[in-house]
Amino acid sequence: MSDDPLALPQVSESRLMARLEALAEIGDTGDGGCARLALTDEDRAGRDLVVGWMEDLGLEVTVDGIGNVVATQPGFDSEIAPVMCGSHIDTVRTGGRYDGNYGVLAGLEVIEAAQTAGLELTRPLAVAFFTDEEGARFAPDMLGSLAYAGGIGIEDALDIVGIDGVTVGDELRRIGYAGGAPLPGRAPHAFVEVHVEQGPVLEAEGLTIGAVTGVQGISWQEITISGQSNHAGTTPMSMRHDAGFAAFAIGAFVRGLAIEIGPPQVGTVGKIDLEPNLVNVVARTARLTVDLRNTDETELQSAEAKLVAFLGELAEREGVTIERRTLARFEPVAFDERMIGLVEATAERLGHKVRRLPSGAGHDAQMMARICPTAMVFVPSVGGISHNPAEYTSPGDLTAGTQVLLEVMCRLASGPTDPDQLYEM
Ligand code: GLV
Ligand code: MN
Ligand code: MN
Repeated sequence: MSDDPLALPQVSESRLMARLEALAEIGDTGDGGCARLALTDEDRAGRDLVVGWMEDLGLEVTVDGIGNVVATQPGFDSEIAPVMCGSHIDTVRTGGRYDGNYGVLAGLEVIEAAQTAGLELTRPLAVAFFTDEEGARFAPDMLGSLAYAGGIGIEDALDIVGIDGVTVGDELRRIGYAGGAPLPGRAPHAFVEVHVEQGPVLEAEGLTIGAVTGVQGISWQEITISGQSNHAGTTPMSMRHDAGFAAFAIGAFVRGLAIEIGPPQVGTVGKIDLEPNLVNVVARTARLTVDLRNTDETELQSAEAKLVAFLGELAEREGVTIERRTLARFEPVAFDERMIGLVEATAERLGHKVRRLPSGAGHDAQMMARICPTAMVFVPSVGGISHNPAEYTSPGDLTAGTQVLLEVMCRLASGPTDPDQLYEM
């Protein structure tokens, strides 16, 4: 790299892996996975561990009103916006150890490597973890980064009721993470999130790095069906108002809809609750969720409209009532072209095989893209498995992604501090 004015340090695989191991012990499910639903005791313990590491590195740590934690290198003029990275440390109940956690701990490693090498930058580096990215306990997903970017008011966010009947506000206070830093948060100079792909593309194509072009649109609905419970042995099939059957019909419809529309449309019914949920009783009530995603907003809207039409027909035919509530709705997001190019060129310069690809999963970066130039770096997920304890990425690939993150961040944090000027490769 004779033409490269920045001599950048190497990240440490052993430090990165040691922190990943230590964080994975909190909420360890015994099968390689993690259960740290947002704002639970396990989440608090994970937060405390990561905040301790941030403090050990001498970073200035702030906690805002929704519990987002931002750690920034001190010693810079307060007018100079940091180059920020980050992700989340909450998990789904059956989560792996890399989803989100990797992006936060890779960010810590970048800062430690930069500090250890005595790297002189013109902007501070910062690493954040955002509250409730998963949305598995409190919908919508990406709640913390949404609030950071000003997409939801703090009062509305604190009032959200979770799957266990408690509010975000009560749980934040209970675990001691209702902080005082202002919301919306300060716009960084740029934001970069490194994450495991959670899909099969990079591994299948033998690639190490993905330069993420954007995130597909997400539509989450909760559907409540009210029928009539009755005796499973005596009620003729023609005389039933079976909320359970209606729920299964919706599940089958959603799958058929996604297949009919074709890729990249996907559709999932991941949660169904029946009442009274007994072997010999026709279900009185069913409550289920529908997750629809597409990279094309028009296609996504069309899928939603078809679902609504089907619910109307189904209610009529089965003599049940069907109510629908939106849990999350985010349009597709395209990342900043200059930032995508920087990730791609950096990965290539480091000798990696790289391709551009969209993200199928939701990420905090899609919210940060509302307030600053944003990009994501993906590394391969073995077998494309995620939201599963079997989620796995090799240490070598995790380290490669962290080195790309370091080089992208340090370049963005070098040179003139003109707010509009991004580093160009
Ligand atoms: C978050 O992980 C999502 O994409 O559901
Ligand atoms: Mn994630
Ligand atoms: Mn996830």
